[in-house]
Amino acid sequence: MNSKTDIRIDIQKLKKLPTLSWTAERILNLTSKELTHLDELVDIIERDPPIMSKVLGVANIVYFGIYKPITTVKDALLKIGFKALKNIALSISIFSLFKSSQEKEKSYMRLFKHSIATGTVCQIISEKFLNEPSEDNFATGVLHDIGLFALNYAFYEQFQKIEQALSRENSLTQAEKKILGTTHSEMGKWLAEIWGLPEIFCDVILYHHEPPQKSVKYAKNVALVQLSNSIAEKLGYHPFEVKIESEFYREKVYKLLDVPEPEELVNELKEILKEVENL
Ligand SMILES: [Fe+2]
Ligand SMILES: [Fe+2]
Repeated sequence: MNSKTDIRIDIQKLKKLPTLSWTAERILNLTSKELTHLDELVDIIERDPPIMSKVLGVANIVYFGIYKPITTVKDALLKIGFKALKNIALSISIFSLFKSSQEKEKSYMRLFKHSIATGTVCQIISEKFLNEPSEDNFATGVLHDIGLFALNYAFYEQFQKIEQALSRENSLTQAEKKILGTTHSEMGKWLAEIWGLPEIFCDVILYHHEPPQKSVKYAKNVALVQLSNSIAEKLGYHPFEVKIESEFYREKVYKLLDVPEPEELVNELKEILKEVENL
């Protein structure tokens, strides 16, 4: 069995894992300061029809009720703006790196829907209730479990063992520590660092199952992702077939966020999140 060090080395050398694709890398480096980058973003997305249809599908869910329907990539750029479109496209192109055999299709789709649901909840809560909404909220929410995608893609045997252990263990973190000696949060953070994703992603990925205050700079972002992750699970979007609830440090989260109680948010988001099923 792999030890933590083996897994870390495998990830850091990107041994069994994909490097960032040209598409993802290009999108990551686009900035709104360069006018030509606006057209380039549209161009990159349009050039890849499977990615384009997912980007539009996700944009319509995240901005449901505000801009629906978004019909073309140009339309999305006009309505939701450069940064929001960039973040959706980046996330979708990162997820597409982890698509592999048919055998894993079911678990991949479960992770995909859990991630989109979490990102959507993050974005909606931040727009509706936070003073400083940021388009980064969608991306941090959507990428928080990237370590699970890596596990599913490159360490499938261990992924299955963890999934089986969940019916006894009742804590994903505990099951992972026993089977892997590490967690998907650590694995995701290593990967995000190697890919050169911004620091905010690395922190949210690393701490999303822990008290948010553990992050010195991004505690609020961690809190938002943890709350959104929990709401996504309550609405049926679990990352595993075995439905266990992730760590949710309710009191600590609510010290950082002035938003309605989870039960109220669940009610409010129920209808919108149904759309995730159709992706
Ligand atoms: Fe997680
Ligand atoms: Fe999650």
